[in-house]
Amino acid sequence: MFLPSPWRQFFPGILALAEQQQVWLDSAATAQKPHVMIDTLTQYYQHAVANVHRAQHQPGERATRAFEDARSSISKWLQASEDDQVIFTKGTTEGINLLSQALAHHLQAGDEILISAYEHHANLLPWQQLALSRGVKLKILAMDSDGHVDIDAAIAQLSARSKILAISALSNVIGHQQALEPLLQAARAMGIYTVIDGAQAAVHQRPNLQQLDCDFYVCSAHKLYGPDGVGILFTRERAVTALRHWQFGGEMVRDCDYQHAEFLPAPLGFEPGTPSTANIVAFAATLDWLHSLDSAAIARHEAALHTAVLAGLQQRGMQIIGTPNCALVSFNAPGVHHADLALLLGEQGIAVRAGHHCAMPLLKSLGLAGALRVSLAMYNDGDDIQRFFSALDQALEILQ
Ligand code: ALA
Repeated sequence: MFLPSPWRQFFPGILALAEQQQVWLDSAATAQKPHVMIDTLTQYYQHAVANVHRAQHQPGERATRAFEDARSSISKWLQASEDDQVIFTKGTTEGINLLSQALAHHLQAGDEILISAYEHHANLLPWQQLALSRGVKLKILAMDSDGHVDIDAAIAQLSARSKILAISALSNVIGHQQALEPLLQAARAMGIYTVIDGAQAAVHQRPNLQQLDCDFYVCSAHKLYGPDGVGILFTRERAVTALRHWQFGGEMVRDCDYQHAEFLPAPLGFEPGTPSTANIVAFAATLDWLHSLDSAAIARHEAALHTAVLAGLQQRGMQIIGTPNCALVSFNAPGVHHADLALLLGEQGIAVRAGHHCAMPLLKSLGLAGALRVSLAMYNDGDDIQRFFSALDQALEILQ
């Protein structure tokens, strides 16, 4: 299968894995890192560190400038408008936990939070726990057999009691991108806060937050070829003042005495404590590098790999979950336990994810104990796919 990746050379982790005869098909869990990310981290630390927003000395000013420049360049990458805010978090999970706490005061018993049936635990559990603690109803937007949310039915579910709608732009199990704009617009017209979970989608399609009409957008750096432990919470200007401060500590305070405090607005008011400065600077450098590449060529390459994976699985009679159209495919082999298959693939050097994919309710609703998932990135090539299929054939010969 001749599908070379011109970007593979930029990822030392992929080259190291290849030397160990390992194939990385688990990028939806976390992506390998380009040289630019690793080099920026090293350079940042080699030039001496300082804490940000806390000092008048030169190293402190330099670190603060690098940190705020990173915020501006990440905001540009998101195509956010100047009045909107980018708050740094530890990742998607923390971003959604932040929102679930910071919006909690808008909810009263009998109100509703809406999520889709395909959400992963990060975009389910914070809302579920908030709903339980406030006597609020968690409404689940139904999905058809292809794994798509029925947008018209979802719009019909919105009511005067609906306060928050939180939905993933791309499910980590089904891998189907669909247009959410009509749902976002209907929610906005009813004054419902809208949250888009971009954890899986952002790496395959650069977000355009002037077009995507949500109030909040979250994603993680580590799935975007960036470092671990950093995420973004984008907040639209019109919604940012709805957030109540949720974590408390240094550098978020305007004034403080023993019994009372006044807090800064976003972003600093939502970033207490020392931030992950080196990682944030390295993340911004990674996004700048990503932006310098031919994104249409990357999308074409990923689509060609995806088509090849789908076709090969279909040819072999695998049970594919939904109708994936972007970067990942989840499947089961008839009569074979997913864990057995994952084990035999792993022994042959094929890294795929297997299990419930942190989306247990989704798997349960499909009547499945688990599934295998192949997920792709710009550095995969035709040889990776070929090796995956020969390992799959060998494993199936033993197990079926
Ligand atoms: N959310 C990540 C995944 O789907 C960890 O694997």
